Amino acid sequence: MSTTILIGAQWGDEGKGKIIDVLTERADWVVRAQGGNNAGHTVEIGAEKFVLHLVPSGILTSGKRCVIGNGVVLDPVALVEEIRGVEARGIAVAGRLFISDRAHVVFPYHCMLDAQGEARRAKGDQIGTTQRGIGPAYADKAARFGLRMGDLVDPEFPVLLKSRVEEKNRVLAAMGAPVVAYDEVLAATRQALATLRPLVCDTVPLLHAAVERGERILFEGAQGIMLDLDFGTYPFVTSSSAGSGGACTGSGVPPNRMDRVVGVLKAYTTRVGEGPFPTELNDAAGEDLRRLGREFGATTGRPRRCGWFDAVVARHAVMTCGVDEWALTKLDVLDTLATLNICTAYELDGRRIAHFPANVREVARCRPVYEELPGWQASTRQVARFADLPENAKRYIARLEQVTGVPVGILSLGPRREQTLILNEDA
Ligand code: IMP
Repeated sequence: MSTTILIGAQWGDEGKGKIIDVLTERADWVVRAQGGNNAGHTVEIGAEKFVLHLVPSGILTSGKRCVIGNGVVLDPVALVEEIRGVEARGIAVAGRLFISDRAHVVFPYHCMLDAQGEARRAKGDQIGTTQRGIGPAYADKAARFGLRMGDLVDPEFPVLLKSRVEEKNRVLAAMGAPVVAYDEVLAATRQALATLRPLVCDTVPLLHAAVERGERILFEGAQGIMLDLDFGTYPFVTSSSAGSGGACTGSGVPPNRMDRVVGVLKAYTTRVGEGPFPTELNDAAGEDLRRLGREFGATTGRPRRCGWFDAVVARHAVMTCGVDEWALTKLDVLDTLATLNICTAYELDGRRIAHFPANVREVARCRPVYEELPGWQASTRQVARFADLPENAKRYIARLEQVTGVPVGILSLGPRREQTLILNEDA
C-alpha cells in the first residue's frame, strides 16, 4: 500500500496524532492537506510529549519528509514558532519540510475577524471556534481575496498585503473592533519568511514524483468528518474538507492514486465547541469519560464533551470517506466501566433512522437507540496480543465492526507508540 489517507471519523480528537506516528514508520512522506493550526496532534514518544498544530507529525521520525499542502491555511508566525519548538528538541526540519506555494496564509486580521464573528453571533449560533482565523482565511480563499505562500515570496507582496489590510480594517472598524497595523503585519510576516522562504515550493510535482517512484505517502487528516464543511454538523463545523476527498483537493494527488483509507475512531465519542451531539452524556458517566480519557483540548485546553460510541456517526464516515479499516483508539479508557452503550440508530420525531440527518435542528431532536454491552473491568494497557484481550473487550470490538461494517485494523490501548496492536498485516 503506497498511499494511505487517514481521517478522523468523529468530531476530531480521535487520537489521530498517535496513529499517524505509528503509521509513519511505514511511510516515506507525511502530508497535511487541510485545516490549519486549529488542529492539535498529540504524540508521546518515550517520556516526551509533543503537540503539533501545523507541522505534520511525521517530522518526529527521522528520515521522513513532510508536506504542508495547498489545502492548508497557514499562519506563518505560528508555524515558525512550532518549527523552533521542534528544532529545540533536536529534530531537524530543514530539507524535510516542504510548504505548498498554493497554501493560503492566515493573517492577524483573520484571527480578529474570527473572534468578532463569534462575539457577534446570537447565543446558540456560536460555533466555539479555536479563534485561529481558520474560517475567515478559507472565506477569503473562496472569495478570491486570499494571499498564498507564493505571494509572500513575490516582490509584489507589500502591495498585495496593503490592499488586504485596508479592506479588512474597513470591516473591523465598521464592527467597532480594533484594526491591524499594516507595518506590524508586514514586519512580522517578513520575519517569519526568513525561516519559511527556503521551504516554500510547488509541492504538486514533488508529490507526483514520489507517487511515480512508488514511495509511501501518508495523508494526515485533521479534525474529523463530523466537522467537515459539507458532511459535518453544518454550521457547527470547521471550514475545510476533513474527509478523504480533502486529501486529494488539498494536495494535488488525484483520487485514482489513493490506495487505502484508515478511519480513526475513538471507542467512545467526544466533541469540543458547540453543535448537536446525540450521544452526549451530561451526567456523571460523561464526567467519568472526561476524567478517564483526559479529554481536554490539545489546542485550546477546553474540556471536551463526552458520550457513548455512535455507530450512526461511524457509518456516516464510512459512506462519505470510503473507510477501509478502523484505527480504534482509547479502548483502555473504558477498562473500568461495568456497562457500555453503543448507539446503533436514532429516534427522530417518533421514527427510527439509521443515517445522520443534514439538518442540525433535526440532529438536536435525535434520541440515541442504545444497545448495552457488559464491560470487561480489567486493564488492557499492557495487552500485547489481540488474543489476550478480555473476552468482553473482544465482544465490544466485534460489535463495533458489525454495526459499522468495517474491520478494526489497528487497536490503540494507551498514548505510547508501543501500546498499539496492528491487526491487519497489510497495514
Ligand atoms: P475552527 O476550525 O477554529 O473554525 O472551529 C470550528 C469548530 O471545529 C469548533 O467547534 C472547534 O472546536 C472545532 N475544531 C476545529 N479544529 C478541531 C480539532 O482539531 N479537533 C477538534 N475540534 C476542532
